[in-house]
Amino acid sequence: MSRLRVAIQKSGRLSEKSLDVLKRCGLSFARSKDKLFWYGRDFPVDVLLVRDDDIPRMLLDGVCELGIVGENIAREVMLERESESQLNCLRKLGFGHCRLSIAVPENRDIAGIEALEGTRIATSYPALTRNLMMQQGISTSIVELSGSVEIAPGLGTADAISDLVSTGTTLRANHLRELDVLFESQAALYGRVNDISDEKKVLLDRLLARLEGVMQAAESKYVMLHAPREALEKITELLPGVEHPSVMPLEGSDRIAIHAVCGEAVFWEHLEALKAAGASAILVLPVEKMLA
Ligand code: PRP
Ligand code: ZN
Repeated sequence: MSRLRVAIQKSGRLSEKSLDVLKRCGLSFARSKDKLFWYGRDFPVDVLLVRDDDIPRMLLDGVCELGIVGENIAREVMLERESESQLNCLRKLGFGHCRLSIAVPENRDIAGIEALEGTRIATSYPALTRNLMMQQGISTSIVELSGSVEIAPGLGTADAISDLVSTGTTLRANHLRELDVLFESQAALYGRVNDISDEKKVLLDRLLARLEGVMQAAESKYVMLHAPREALEKITELLPGVEHPSVMPLEGSDRIAIHAVCGEAVFWEHLEALKAAGASAILVLPVEKMLA
């Protein structure tokens, strides 16, 4: 029987959440001794634990069919290989948000990235940086570094850097100032899915349907409340992301019960507005699974 392989980051910012999303899709694994290959028990999907930077290349080389990796890394490799079409972004996963930004020394008076024309930029993302700077009509010379990019300006090996920023702590610690954002990134499921067998395609579609449900469930809340019948329309409007709630009579009362799955976040402000519109006994519950 066919199996799929999904590569995830072995240790780092994306590891835990990558594994978590697979588990929420109903996958469980028998962990091998060397811990680099986990066999999928209930669903024929195995996991490879690797360096995140290796994931796009492993997909392109056919080592695995799926991989969870930052969009920044996937784009870099696709540009490097000029093979944009072979890797498909199947689903953005809503975690691992960061941005590829140009940063300069705090004490340098630089107004915008246009002023970097002809300067040297240190980065671990040479293809992406060159490409995005060129799109803005700025040509620079790229100093490619595999790590510790943030120390390059201090060492005098570059005038600016192009690096990932998430909290900004690394930049501040190195007296660098974020000048401009080149690229917004998050973790996504990528696949090399054009040339896989029909059997694998069936498996992939099942996994993607579950993933879609997991992602939607994570964003959704189940809301239950009581309200006067005449407030139904107003209350439906106030429930975030709801068009057709379930409406039930309440035994021995002229009030009704309204149940709905809210497709968007539910905040205290929403509950206060519902209460003001006549709702009572408002309950907000997490949604564990969803299948459209
Ligand atoms: C990135 C980047 C910075 C740091 C920025 O590295 O290279 O070092 O994160 O984060 P901050 O704004 O929260 O300080 P990453 O975690 O991707 O590690 P890697 O390059 O080794 O994969
Ligand atoms: Zn990395």
